[in-house]
Amino acid sequence: MYKILLRQDLVPGIHLFKVAAPRVAKKAQPGQFVVIRIDEKGERIPLTVADWDRGDGTITIVFMEVGTTTARLARLKAGEAIADFVGPLGLPTHIEKFGTVVCVAGGVGAAPIAPIARALKQAGNKVISILGARSKSLLFWEDNLRSVSDQLIVTTDDGSYCRKGVVTEPLKELLEGGEKIDQVVAIGPVVMMKFCAKTTKPFGVKTIVSLNPIMVDGTGMCGCCRCEVGGVTKFACVDGPDFDGHQVDWDLLLARQRIYLDEEKRSFGQWQNSIRPEVREHGKAKS
Ligand SMILES: Cc1cc2nc3c(=O)[nH]c(=O)nc-3n(C[C@H](O)[C@H](O)[C@H](O)COP(=O)(O)OP(=O)(O)OC[C@H]3O[C@@H](n4cnc5c(N)ncnc54)[C@H](O)[C@@H]3O)c2cc1C
Ligand code: FES
Repeated sequence: MYKILLRQDLVPGIHLFKVAAPRVAKKAQPGQFVVIRIDEKGERIPLTVADWDRGDGTITIVFMEVGTTTARLARLKAGEAIADFVGPLGLPTHIEKFGTVVCVAGGVGAAPIAPIARALKQAGNKVISILGARSKSLLFWEDNLRSVSDQLIVTTDDGSYCRKGVVTEPLKELLEGGEKIDQVVAIGPVVMMKFCAKTTKPFGVKTIVSLNPIMVDGTGMCGCCRCEVGGVTKFACVDGPDFDGHQVDWDLLLARQRIYLDEEKRSFGQWQNSIRPEVREHGKAKS
């Protein structure tokens, strides 16, 4: 069992757990993920390693409530434990001195991008980060990202904080500006990553995205995370999750993510009915 040592509710529907997992912490690198299972009847879900402490033997995960398992996870408290916590899985993000790198994070993507931005900065890059959320109330880790960036631009879709608009607008301005951008890293919802890649393509700036197809085993055996990159079939869990955004078949990824939508809705409804009415309001994700 993997004990939750700390729980923080970052913003409504997004939570941070610091979990005791010394063997995972020993090897974790930016861009990698774990596959967790809450208990022996639970489904397996992948979550990115948002931070780690090799000395304390802890891994930090940040997750958004979107369905049954993430809503169930959100009900756990510090002191409780997760049955399985497998990792680190996937290939680490490629880090080297590229020059100037723009890190673009949307929504819960702020968590996985933070260790990548930190590693890029440590490797000697100039790091410009763009952090976007739908509104101020959903924005988190602004200070975290600022501390590992030379410049931070914050956007909110509704204009409730900092610049009004979506992340691709400042990204385009940076690409059009005088400074040479050597690489872009974009992590967030699929549509956001797709449009970041679309924005950078005419400028020929390599754009790394972290794909999030449905995964089961996370070790290349089930084929569930199949995606197409550059016309070639890839398994995101072992060949990625990082890929060249200009090569990704985004429509296929979006379609495959929705394959089990009916089952997911049914599962969420059944779970909501199984819990006591007074805690039901917790699960607003699928309404
Ligand atoms: C490599 C990787 C890293 C990820 N890291 C994070 C993270 O750090 N924080 C975070 O909040 N989310 C992350 N996700 C997404 C997270 O795994 C899904 O939100 C979660 O599995 C949803 O499960 P659910 O039962 O709550 O929702 P469901 O109702 O089952 O699904 C809701 C939606 O989530 C997606 N999904 C469902 N099952 C899976 C699955 N097994 N694998 C991937 N996606 C699934 C589908 O698009 C689905 O429509 C990551 C996904 C991948 C592939
Ligand atoms: S999750 Fe099974 S092959 Fe990738």
